[in-house]
Amino acid sequence: MNWEDIYRRKVVDAGAAMSCVESGNSIYVGGGAGAPSVLVDALCGRAAELRDVQLIHILTFIDAPYVDPKYEGSFRSNSLFIGHNVRKAVQEGRADFTPIFLSEIPGLFQKKILPIDVAIVALSPPDEHGFCSFGVEVGTTKPAAESARHIIAEVNQQMPRTLGDSFIHVSRLSQVVEVDHPLPLAVQGGNTPENMRIGHHIAGMIPDGATLQMGIGGLPDAVLQNLTNHKDLGIHTELFSDGVVSLFEQGIITCSRKTFHPGKMVAGFLFGTEQLYRFVDNNAIVELHPTDYVNDPFNIALNDNMVAINAALQVDLTGQVCADSIGPVFYSGVGGQLDFIRGAARSKGGLPIIALPSTAKNDTISRISLMLPEGSGVTTTRNDVHFIVTEYGVAELYGKTIRQRAQALINIAHPKFRDELAFAAKKIGYL
Ligand code: COA
Repeated sequence: MNWEDIYRRKVVDAGAAMSCVESGNSIYVGGGAGAPSVLVDALCGRAAELRDVQLIHILTFIDAPYVDPKYEGSFRSNSLFIGHNVRKAVQEGRADFTPIFLSEIPGLFQKKILPIDVAIVALSPPDEHGFCSFGVEVGTTKPAAESARHIIAEVNQQMPRTLGDSFIHVSRLSQVVEVDHPLPLAVQGGNTPENMRIGHHIAGMIPDGATLQMGIGGLPDAVLQNLTNHKDLGIHTELFSDGVVSLFEQGIITCSRKTFHPGKMVAGFLFGTEQLYRFVDNNAIVELHPTDYVNDPFNIALNDNMVAINAALQVDLTGQVCADSIGPVFYSGVGGQLDFIRGAARSKGGLPIIALPSTAKNDTISRISLMLPEGSGVTTTRNDVHFIVTEYGVAELYGKTIRQRAQALINIAHPKFRDELAFAAKKIGYL
C-alpha cells in the first residue's frame, strides 16, 4: 500500500480521533506554537466520559481549557515548564509542576519515567515521501510522540515544513485530523528602556563570530536589536523568534563561523509572527532538533564563542540565581537555562550570561538581594554563575570571592537600594 492510501485511511474528524483516549491515560500535548488546539478542544468535549486523564506539556501558546475548575476529576495538567495559560491553576494547586531540565525532558518519556499513552501533536502536511514535519515545535514534542502508544496528529496546512531531525512518517500516526488555521502569534516589540540598556551592555560583550542562545522573556529581542553592527553571528538555541530573521536579512547572522553545525541555525522550537513562520518553511539554513540534542551541554560546548543569555527574577549577593519562582510561588521552570549556562561555560571563548532588570514592581523591589526570598528555587547555582547584567552594568562573578561578588552585585543594583544592600552585606559578614 502506498503512503497516500495509508494516510487517507487515518483521516477522521476531531471527535472520532479522540475516541481512543481512556480514563487514566497520560496524554502529551504538543508544545509551544505547535500546540494542537482543535484536538485539545475535542478532548475537552469528552470530559464527561473521562476520569483522571493527565495532560503533560511544556509551554503551550494556545488556551488550556483543561485547567478550568469545571474539568476537575476529568483532567489534571502537569507542566514541565509553566506557561501563562496554566500558571494560576498551578499556583492554586489545581495543576501540577514537574521541575526538569529541557535537555532531560525527552529522557522522561523514553525511559518511561513519564510514560505517554497518547501524544496529540500538530504536524505539517506530508511531503511526497509521506513524511510530516513537526514544524515549529520539535524539541520535546517529537521525542514524546515517538515514545507514545498512539499519536493523534492535527495536520495543519499552515504548519511550516522545518528541516533537521524534525520528521515523522504517516505510517506512525494512529489518526489524522486535517485543519487549516494560523499558528499562534507572538506579540512583537514594546521592550522596556531597562531591557534595551541591558541589551546594549550584553551586545558590548559579544564578539563577532559568536554563536548565540537566547532564553525566554522580553530580553532576547532587546539584545538582538543591539547587534546591528556585529558580523557573522550564529544561532544555537532552544527557541528563536523574528529578531533572528531580521538580523539574518541584514547579513549579520550568517552562521559561517560556527564550529558545530556550521552554516545552520539550530533550535528546538520557534515562536513569532507570520514572517518567522514563512522564513523557516523549507529553509535549509534552519534545523530543528529534539532538546536532548540541542540542549545537551556537551553539544552546546562544541560551539566556540558560545554566548548564552538567560533572564532571571532574582539574584542574591553570593550569585544564586532564581528564574522559576517568586518566593515559593512557581512562575515558569528551569527550561534550558542551566543546560546553556553549563554548555557556554565549557565552550572555548564562551560567555554564560544571566540578565535581569535591577528592580521589579515599579522600583519597589530590588531584584538583587542579600538572600533569595524564602521559598525561591535556585535555578543557576553560585558555582555555575559567571556574568550578571542589569541596566547598570556587568558583574563578573566567576572565580570571585563572596566579598568580591557582593560588591560587584551591589555596584549594578538600582542606586536606591545600594546603601541598604551594603549595610546588610556588612552585617552578615559578606563585606
Ligand atoms: N519579585 C517580585 N516580582 C517579580 C520579581 C521579583 N524579584 N521579578 C519579577 N517579578 C514580576 C515582574 O514584575 C513581572 O510581573 P508582571 O507580569 O505583573 O509585570 C513578572 O514577575 C515577570 O517578570 P519579567 O522580568 O517581566 O519576566 P520575563 O517575561 O522577562 O521573563 C523569566 C523572565 C526569568 C521569568 C523567564 O526568562 C523565565 O521564565 N525563565 C526560566 C528559566 C530560563 O531562563 N530558561 C531558559 C529559557 S527556556
